[in-house]
Amino acid sequence: MSFCVAIDGPAAAGKGTVSRAVAEIFGFGYLDTGLLYRATGAKTFEGLSPIEAAQSLTAEDLQRDDLRSGDAGQAASRVAAIAEVRDALVDFQRAFARRNGGAVLDGRDIGTVICPDAEVKLYITASDEVRAKRRFDELIEAGEKTTLDKVLDDLRERDTRDAARATAPLKPAEDAIIIDTSDMTIDAAVAQVVELIKARTV
Ligand code: CDP
Ligand code: CDP
Repeated sequence: MSFCVAIDGPAAAGKGTVSRAVAEIFGFGYLDTGLLYRATGAKTFEGLSPIEAAQSLTAEDLQRDDLRSGDAGQAASRVAAIAEVRDALVDFQRAFARRNGGAVLDGRDIGTVICPDAEVKLYITASDEVRAKRRFDELIEAGEKTTLDKVLDDLRERDTRDAARATAPLKPAEDAIIIDTSDMTIDAAVAQVVELIKARTV
């Protein structure tokens, strides 16, 4: 049986952290859809067009070790605005959403486009400053040289581009539950999502 948990929201809101934890708790599969766009963006660094890059994406491309960098995030957001790029990635995501045994997908358009009939739809957000600090700490930990101001500018630029694009813009689905994690620990956010999923499964 399938069961889809759709988690959308802006950059560094805590989507992935919460998604991984709840997938583990319920034994669901987890797909970080941002990785598909990051890998597509990274392939354009080698001269492929965004559409060629999306159409030729392989599991190996998702293993590149530069996908979490700020540059890959920006490239992802640029290629993600192209309708043909998104089209090339839809079938894979929809099949994952309806896999047997349940699935958690996180991204920008999961509840609106990829799985509009998801059993649980969440929009996880946090203030710009909190998100920038979280991402800054991660990038420093990974050895990237950057500043908090640059990370904040970067997130805002990406969020604005993601929300303004014509195809599958970043926005909460009408029936999504909005969770602001600005003042929440990871454990508290996970606990809230676990309760919401349980309420739909019993
Ligand atoms: O997937 P998304 O970009 O939305 O965010 P993430 O990668 O899950 O979270 C970004 C960072 O924020 C991670 O280092 C998390 O550990 C941290 N985080 C946090 O400090 N408090 C939360 N409530 C959620 C995430
Ligand atoms: O981890 P973070 O939230 O910073 O970004 P991500 O989830 O890895 O996504 C990187 C970029 O891919 C986003 O800024 C979006 O432009 C794009 N994306 C999208 O358009 N649709 C999705 N379902 C997932 C990501």
